[in-house]
Amino acid sequence: MSTAHPYLDPTLPVAERVADLVGRMTLEEKIGQMMQLCAEEDLEDMVLRKHVGSILHTPPDRMARAHAYVAQTRLQVPLLVGEDCIHGHSFFAGATIYPTQLGMGATWSADLLERVARATAVEVASTGTHWTFSPVLCIARDLRWGRVSETFGEDPFLIGELSSAMVRGYQGEGLDDPTAILATAKHFAGYSETQGGRDASEADISRRKLRSWFLPPFERVAREGCRTFMLGYQSMDGVPVTVNDWLLSDVLRGEWGYTGTLITDWDNVGRMVWEQKIQPDHAHAAAAAVRAGNDLVMTTPQFFQGALDAVGQGLIAEADLDPAVGRILTLKFELGLFEDPRHPDAERQAAVVGSAEHAGLNLEVARRSLVLLRNDGTLPFAGATRTVAVVGPNADDADTQQGDWAGSSGQARWILDGHPREMSETVLDGFRDQAPDGWTVTHARGADILTVGPDPEGAFFPDGQPRPQVVVPAEPDDAMIAEAVAAAEGADYVVAVVGDRIELVGEGRSTATLDLVGGQVALLDALAATGTPMVVVVIASKPLVLPASARGAAAIVWAANPGMRGGRAVAELALGLIEPSGRLPISFAEHVGQLPVFYNQLPGQHGTRYADLTQRTPFAFGEGLSYTTVEYADLEVLTPQVSAGGTGAGESVRARVTVRNTGSRPALETVQVYVHDVVTSVTWAEKELKTFRQVELAPGASEVVEIEVPVADCTLVDAAGRRVVEPGAFELLVGPSSRDEVLLRAGFTVSA
Ligand code: NOJ
Repeated sequence: MSTAHPYLDPTLPVAERVADLVGRMTLEEKIGQMMQLCAEEDLEDMVLRKHVGSILHTPPDRMARAHAYVAQTRLQVPLLVGEDCIHGHSFFAGATIYPTQLGMGATWSADLLERVARATAVEVASTGTHWTFSPVLCIARDLRWGRVSETFGEDPFLIGELSSAMVRGYQGEGLDDPTAILATAKHFAGYSETQGGRDASEADISRRKLRSWFLPPFERVAREGCRTFMLGYQSMDGVPVTVNDWLLSDVLRGEWGYTGTLITDWDNVGRMVWEQKIQPDHAHAAAAAVRAGNDLVMTTPQFFQGALDAVGQGLIAEADLDPAVGRILTLKFELGLFEDPRHPDAERQAAVVGSAEHAGLNLEVARRSLVLLRNDGTLPFAGATRTVAVVGPNADDADTQQGDWAGSSGQARWILDGHPREMSETVLDGFRDQAPDGWTVTHARGADILTVGPDPEGAFFPDGQPRPQVVVPAEPDDAMIAEAVAAAEGADYVVAVVGDRIELVGEGRSTATLDLVGGQVALLDALAATGTPMVVVVIASKPLVLPASARGAAAIVWAANPGMRGGRAVAELALGLIEPSGRLPISFAEHVGQLPVFYNQLPGQHGTRYADLTQRTPFAFGEGLSYTTVEYADLEVLTPQVSAGGTGAGESVRARVTVRNTGSRPALETVQVYVHDVVTSVTWAEKELKTFRQVELAPGASEVVEIEVPVADCTLVDAAGRRVVEPGAFELLVGPSSRDEVLLRAGFTVSA
């Protein structure tokens, strides 16, 4: 190929190179450039005949073949390689797997998450992948949804903070940095607002509701330069996101000025034909997707012929494809792929994938992610010689610790056996390694959670896709329980590690109940009856409903899916080697019928409870204990009168509060700041998190914490859908969680 083509000249501006290349492409090449197909399928067909611009789910041993096919193409446009590197390089054997997003959310630490994303990018880039489909900015409000563990929880501000940090970490200093990878804000937008928690169901969500809570985190990362957005599966008001002109054109590209690239979710374009049935065929679906401004079409092989037909039938013109093709090529030029296609680099991989440095960071995050929900003083364990019985189905389960989108979780066929076992430390491993000399650690499984069996509705869906197997809860097993009870009776402490398993987690695997499945409740009841102080450790993808025997236990630790090193972190916490500091990014329910339980609900209902149950959540957003006590005092607003002066005017509410460590252990305290708008023109959440500060406090120490909330953040979305500051009385609420009873309050007034 001649090097004289301007698009191959790295000294030319990107826009010029893009224009030159687009000008040389045939219609087929343009259509292919807009396609992303699964690299486990026929690579030769997708690269040589469909001219795909991008691949995903590439088994490491197929990467070289894919690039070799590109070398045979006319224009040799390098492939953009995407992958779900969700909490680490999920499906690359030997990579570092961190806690799930929900677990990381409990750290409330943007700094840590930026470091995790940076470290992940370093691993991912070395393996020839240019793009991760992370982070998830969905708001988890229905705990039955199967994808709660992929989110940062329920609060838009916290989600925005942490997502922004991850995007920064992935994209690094700029795309020309060879360790930078493209980030993806997903799933844009409202996907999590399912009906009955059912995955990808039509979301019953108004534009105003979107603007109020669901869009702000996306707006933030769009404005900050997140290079790609993935569009949700679902429809809203009858319109699939894939063709939602208002969302994509008016809001994202219009109001927010987003110039990045859009990718559909898996077969969104095909779904309009076979699932949502709003397009008669793939030609119409392709035309609609192009007109709506989609750039990359994920795993709809029929898009190739569909788009050809659409142009042939005059539904769209060839030139209509150019903006999308241009945006995809821009990414490739900015990544420098034409000069260095960033193929796997064995030497770099050996140095960085699963490195000791990343394992250290992983342990740090796992430690920070643990949330102590209850403690009667049993924790931390103490004594010269002690016996600890570590029991329960998740006590020694490395795969469950890693959670969804990791190793054996099922999305990648080439790594079904998971990551090397020796990279993980289960809770049992953790106690065995960390218990002081002279202590004894015993173990019994105590209960199974489930098995799976065929779906009674048949092995396949009508479209020929295989139906997943269905969950069959395990029966309590008397012998297993007796063994665990004997271990507990012979111990000074029993650590019961319960939760869920991958079969209850993920896309298409929402759950009808939140109860502990299988023999777990019977196990906990039996353990509680022994009288041995019991610490319940919950390793689960979502907040589960805990039975009375667990709620009355000596202590409860919520560990989410804490990643490869989570078991060690749990043991360290129980043994008092670290301080608990995690705070819940999501509220728990006492019963599935209480849903929704998120903290920032709208006021207005008859009464405050159900006839048969209160609405009180057992563990609320922001909660988490330390091994010490921290007192809040002297909240003072320094600016009792502030002016709205139009949003963005820069004026801030400033305040201070004194936090004092009144116990004997150090604390890492998360000082949470909520705002309450006293009278509003529309019903509005009674409090919303606006900022937080994390402060380290030595025993006995106190600190005056300075708080600053821009007036421009004291907004609501009015009846017309505008985000505005409404002048009048406000309150600042400051304290250790979202619970009213622990928040100090002080008023301020906003003038026009
Ligand atoms: C579907 C999921 O919804 C999305 O999150 C993921 O990135 C893609 N599949 C690719 O695996």
